[in-house]
Amino acid sequence: MAVPLLDLNIQNLALEGELQNAFGRVLRSGQFILGAEVQNFEAKIAELAGVKHAIGVSSGTDGILLALMALGVGPGDEVICPSFTFFATAGCVSRAGATPVFTDSCLYCFNMDVEDAARKVSPRTKAILPVHLFGQPAEMDAVMALAREKKIPVIEDAAQSMGATYKGRQVGGMGTFGMFSLFPSKNLGGFGDGGILVTNDDDLAGRARMLRAHGAKPKYYHKYVGGNFRLDPLQAALLSVKLPHYAEYTEKRRANAAYYTQKLAALPGVAKSSLADSRCHTDASATRGPASAKIVLPAPYAENGHIWNQYTLRVLGAGRRDALKALLTERKIGTEIYYPVPMHKQECFADVPSSRNALPCAERLSSECLSVPIFPELTRTQQEEVIGAVADFLRG
Ligand SMILES: Cc1ncc(COP(=O)(O)O)c(C=O)c1O
Repeated sequence: MAVPLLDLNIQNLALEGELQNAFGRVLRSGQFILGAEVQNFEAKIAELAGVKHAIGVSSGTDGILLALMALGVGPGDEVICPSFTFFATAGCVSRAGATPVFTDSCLYCFNMDVEDAARKVSPRTKAILPVHLFGQPAEMDAVMALAREKKIPVIEDAAQSMGATYKGRQVGGMGTFGMFSLFPSKNLGGFGDGGILVTNDDDLAGRARMLRAHGAKPKYYHKYVGGNFRLDPLQAALLSVKLPHYAEYTEKRRANAAYYTQKLAALPGVAKSSLADSRCHTDASATRGPASAKIVLPAPYAENGHIWNQYTLRVLGAGRRDALKALLTERKIGTEIYYPVPMHKQECFADVPSSRNALPCAERLSSECLSVPIFPELTRTQQEEVIGAVADFLRG
């Protein structure tokens, strides 16, 4: 049985009538730039994320860029971010004219090694940019303590984690800015590109809104050099149809993750790390689990409300991850390697000074990680297919 990595049609077509209505409403309104649809959607996201301001933007990527621009980050500045992340995190720092400074990551929660970040703060550091990867919040107490001590703003890259919680607090609103992506594969997946920038700071929100539309207020009077970073009303209207189902989508992802963990942990050679001690592990030589472990399961910290944008296995041993991917592909099971090359090894960042540092955990994660299907509508039968294939791999 084929198991896709993601099946957007099941979720979207279940709402087809309502989506058609939303399209019709925008069509008849004649309002195709900003306006009430965007404002209403922003208000709903602000409520969901527990923040004062939500600013609809053209993509998650543009949300990060806008946050950096609003904070005045530019040439000569440094921004600390993990190397093991999607390109946009670091790419935006460079696009703002600043220099990314890469940190290592935790082998178990996949997020920024905050002790490494602390070592890399310099007088030029203008922001810390942690990522809540795969749906799990980074160690935000440690991030925020570092930021307070050094008086540096934090931009949370919550592209994959809208609605995730850290010690009961929503991601996105803990830092100076937070960004959610609405890219189709995200938990609230749009119908094209889109994103949301959030903040509790009134002045920064005002500046970000201005920068979103060429830095002008009123129109044609440009206080700043901004860009065109607006969320489309059509996108906002369509996403407003999906938003009431968001909690249900998350619960289904959580149930799927729990099922995988229960079943896969029972297989010989699979280690389940509980992360009960609530701290990151950044010893690249550690496997954490029995010495015979061949696969390590993803684990949420007890205090985190993980939203499982991805269920990511670590497959230990040279070449073994690629062998598992090949076997799953042969069985028509969709997988993806997020991310095969850490940022400090990317060609475009070869001249970035911090790219010269070894980041052993980031490098190890890039060679071991494999994400398997976790989308909300995945059936138990499909999950059994994945679990059976992993069991065969472990036997082979
Ligand atoms: C960690 C991370 N940061 C930033 C982005 C950029 O978001 P978008 O694709 O909406 O531009 C993504 C999206 O894939 C992401 O996963």
